Amino acid sequence: MTDSFCFTPDNAETARVILSRYPANRKQSALLPFLDLAQRQNGGWLSPPVLRFLSETLDVPEIKVYEVASFYTMFNLKPVGRYHLQFCRTTPCWLRGAETIENAVCTHLKARMGETTPDGLFTLSRVECLGACVNAPLLQVNDDFYEDLTETTVITLLDDLAQGRQPTVGTQVKRQTSAPIVGRCTLVS
Ligand code: FES
Repeated sequence: MTDSFCFTPDNAETARVILSRYPANRKQSALLPFLDLAQRQNGGWLSPPVLRFLSETLDVPEIKVYEVASFYTMFNLKPVGRYHLQFCRTTPCWLRGAETIENAVCTHLKARMGETTPDGLFTLSRVECLGACVNAPLLQVNDDFYEDLTETTVITLLDDLAQGRQPTVGTQVKRQTSAPIVGRCTLVS
């Protein structure tokens, strides 16, 4: 970890465009998009130098930057693996078998929630509703959603990622986006 951070020239230009959306005396309003931009540049997490840089750039107390960064699960305050697995455990996903999916992944990767696998490939996190309940249960991997998962399809998904294959994003069953599936309306017990 380096002890300093600043935006690359490309990201500095993106930051300038973001800032232009807000009044000059309200630049702290750009904190959320700046956190996202900085995290992407910094390998998926917000290190102390990144938080300090954002504090100085936006003229926001460092503790406030930390408060915002620690509130949202989309921001990581420690390093994450190449694939950040975010398991939704809110009621619709839970009713559709999220716990089974989570247990299958933990067993397969020999890792617990909050951990990163020793090869640095996968980090496991638990999050609240991802806003795609209609295709529950689902898993977010970095920026992509994988939906309608089963124990079998989630393991195939992990194996594909580990082998460098890009899985099909979205629903993992034969349905058009979130159109109803005939005969699949029972709750998982
Ligand atoms: S409950 Fe899982 S996406 Fe909404």
